[in-house]
Amino acid sequence: MNILVVGGAGYIGSHVVREFLDRGHRVTVYDNLSSGLEQNLFPEAQFVKGDILDYDNLTSAMKGRFDALIHLAAFKAAGESMLNPQKYSVNNISGSINIINAAVETGIRNIVFSSSAAVFGEPEYLPIDEKHPTNPENYYGFTKLEIESFLKWYEKLKGIRFAALRYFNAAGYDVKGRITGLEKNPANLLPVVMEAACGMRAEVQVFGNDYDTADGTGVRDYIHVNDLAVGHVSALEYIVKNEQSLIVNLGSENGISVMEMIEEARRITGKPIPAKIAGRRPGDPAKLTATSQMAHDLLDWTARHSDIETLIRTSWNVYAKNMGL
Ligand code: WQD
Repeated sequence: MNILVVGGAGYIGSHVVREFLDRGHRVTVYDNLSSGLEQNLFPEAQFVKGDILDYDNLTSAMKGRFDALIHLAAFKAAGESMLNPQKYSVNNISGSINIINAAVETGIRNIVFSSSAAVFGEPEYLPIDEKHPTNPENYYGFTKLEIESFLKWYEKLKGIRFAALRYFNAAGYDVKGRITGLEKNPANLLPVVMEAACGMRAEVQVFGNDYDTADGTGVRDYIHVNDLAVGHVSALEYIVKNEQSLIVNLGSENGISVMEMIEEARRITGKPIPAKIAGRRPGDPAKLTATSQMAHDLLDWTARHSDIETLIRTSWNVYAKNMGL
């Protein structure tokens, strides 16, 4: 198929592009490189530099060419979204409305949308399944849930078929080492730990060690980006084959605490990785883990690279190489 990947120069987007290329699809990347990297682009994929807020550029890039669109273009820092919701309203919501409207205008009927576990908010039970109530605790999660709602309406009114993939915590790097761009100013745990390991930052701040978890630090469900990428291909195949939409969790079903991640990173990297206990981060739940039973059943999907060793080793390979270590 001919696939347009909006946000395909990003950390997750580049892994999704790689997977579609590996499966023999033709891919075009549309990205404004605000957080995506030119070094994440592949020669086999065409590239259109553009902003999702530029409707005319978006529609001209899409004109009459694509069987499907993968939408991964969004700001994703939950903490920042609470301080600057305007930025998230414009980019995540208005930008997504542009993308969906342009898809209707140019006849693209299949959309895979990068949603988030942040739509669930404080867990009422664990592991979280797709039936769990959606009460986002941060504005980032709200934007993702809103876009899911737009997609449901466009499915009814315009025959759009969509898959909304609720990622848990994306982490790691390509197991074959083909993607090496470092995220700019990361806020997520593993890149922060890697920056401390290679001296790009002095220490890791541990946001609270008084949670109701085994070691008191936050527990999350980390999902390897290669596993996420396979989930995108499988989800697109599903909606095309079954001509119906899908909202599904993509998680490893395994919980890793902050301290477990830091200690394992010290073992694998051999670096001290200084860590300091800081206050809790507002809006952080103690524990978030997924059940991906629906993805297993409907997509025959299983996380294969999401063990702690692979998550850290594939990340360290990239950070150490970038730093000449
Ligand atoms: C993980 C754990 C922190 C940084 C994010 C965002 C969003 C979404 C899901 C895709 C928590 C702790 C972190 C640090 C720390 N992505 N931490 N020190 O908040 O679970 O969710 O991923 O949709 O990006 O919502 O991810 O990596 O920020 O935090 O102690 O410097 O690590 O408290 O327990 P989070 P995270």
